Amino acid sequence: MAEHFDRKAAEWDANDRHRALTADIVSAVEREWPVDSSPRLLDYGAGTGLCSLALAPRCSSVVAMDVSAGMLSRLEEKARATGIAHLQTLQQDLCSEPLGGQRFDVILCAMTLHHVKDVDILLSRFHSMLEPGGFIAIADLEQEDGTFHDDPAGVHHNGFDRDCLSRKMMAVGFPFVSMETVHRIRKTRDTGIIEYPVFCAIGRMRDAGSAVLDELKWKLVCRPDDITLSGSGEPTLYSRLGELVERIRAMTDVPVAVLTNGSLLWQKDGRTEPS
Ligand SMILES: C[S@@+](CC[C@H](N)C(=O)[O-])C[C@H]1O[C@@H](n2cnc3c(N)ncnc32)[C@H](O)[C@@H]1O
Repeated sequence: MAEHFDRKAAEWDANDRHRALTADIVSAVEREWPVDSSPRLLDYGAGTGLCSLALAPRCSSVVAMDVSAGMLSRLEEKARATGIAHLQTLQQDLCSEPLGGQRFDVILCAMTLHHVKDVDILLSRFHSMLEPGGFIAIADLEQEDGTFHDDPAGVHHNGFDRDCLSRKMMAVGFPFVSMETVHRIRKTRDTGIIEYPVFCAIGRMRDAGSAVLDELKWKLVCRPDDITLSGSGEPTLYSRLGELVERIRAMTDVPVAVLTNGSLLWQKDGRTEPS
């Protein structure tokens, strides 16, 4: 597997298809990004760093992990050339060698999962490495007929059935999983042009807001007239207040009011998202 990608490293970035796919994956990840935050990112199966290097300027630190020394050495050259110093490369397979205590706010796994034999082990490793409120983004092929790869060496899955992958993500502990098609790769095959859709699955960790929602679920049984959220400072409530309100709205049509002081509204998302 590693040798296969070592051989591809030199020409990887020159492929327009790779760059177009990266742009759409990066946009999908950025849409999930908390406003004004600088997360610690793990890019698993980082390759030459097309995604890691695009996201790095918005991160406080980046770990780019891959089994291919060739891909990582290309990534390092590019990081040096662009002056990105807060990025560390690791040649490692998380399935056989866990990372120890290091934790992340965001984990990205772009077009790599279909090369991983034991998806359940990797998903549970990812889950154990994420901070509360963090998320994982898995971009990969939807289930295909096996014609996507010209050379099937190291391919363990012909894409993924979305429902099956969602269930696996939930089973390892992600309570909120969403999926969207973010890109379509077109390839010419014997039968004509085939489109291979690429999904991005987002799995969110439980966070402070989830505890509020759990409590609320029970209170909703007796159908209150309204729900009032109150707190005396920004950490008291929930930093992504708008997201919490949206999650409450998805549970019930009971009107929601927010009582807070100026310190919470000082935050941009606290000010704008509830509206
Ligand atoms: C299709 S490339 C995608 C690279 C990059 N994420 C991108 O979007 O350009 C898959 C990458 O996964 C790496 N890879 C394959 N199996 C792996 C594993 N078990 N652990 C870590 N990396 C792996 C390969 O070396 C390769 O760099």
